[in-house]
Amino acid sequence: MKYIYLLSSLVLVICIFGTNLVNGQTSVCGKMTPDQQALSLGPCVQAALNVSEPVPYRCCVVIKEIGQNPSCLCAIMLSKIVKNLGIKPEVSITIPKRCNIVDRPVGYKCGNYTLP
Ligand SMILES: *[C@@H]1O[C@H](CO)[C@@H](O)[C@H](O)[C@H]1NC(C)=O
Ligand SMILES: *[C@@H]1O[C@H](CO)[C@@H](O)[C@H](O)[C@H]1NC(C)=O
Repeated sequence: MKYIYLLSSLVLVICIFGTNLVNGQTSVCGKMTPDQQALSLGPCVQAALNVSEPVPYRCCVVIKEIGQNPSCLCAIMLSKIVKNLGIKPEVSITIPKRCNIVDRPVGYKCGNYTLP
């Protein structure tokens, strides 16, 4: 039940960022369509809540793609709605590392957090 709630909230987040993209304004998140993003970040929820949880492959694939635009990744991680889900930036920011993404932007400043 809680998982479903988290998931739908996350979809909402992605929709908001997706809308920005469509309107061509503050398009921090280029490239992917809102549909792609909404469908894809679901598998990341558990891993974003618990630093000990293995990151599912399907999540890593998406993170890798969004990670090519680090400001987009940051915007999602630091968003109020994601925070309200109980997802801590200090946990979610470790996901690219936990995915062993080799070309992740190590040292990228994401608000007050630094990508490990
Ligand atoms: C976090 O994940 C680990 C490994 O799956 C699990 O053992 C632990 O109980 C989880 N912690 C919480 C708070 O869910
Ligand atoms: C970031 O750090 C600065 C200085 O330590 C602090 O004033 C600011 O409130 C922090 N911002 C967030 C979003 O935590």
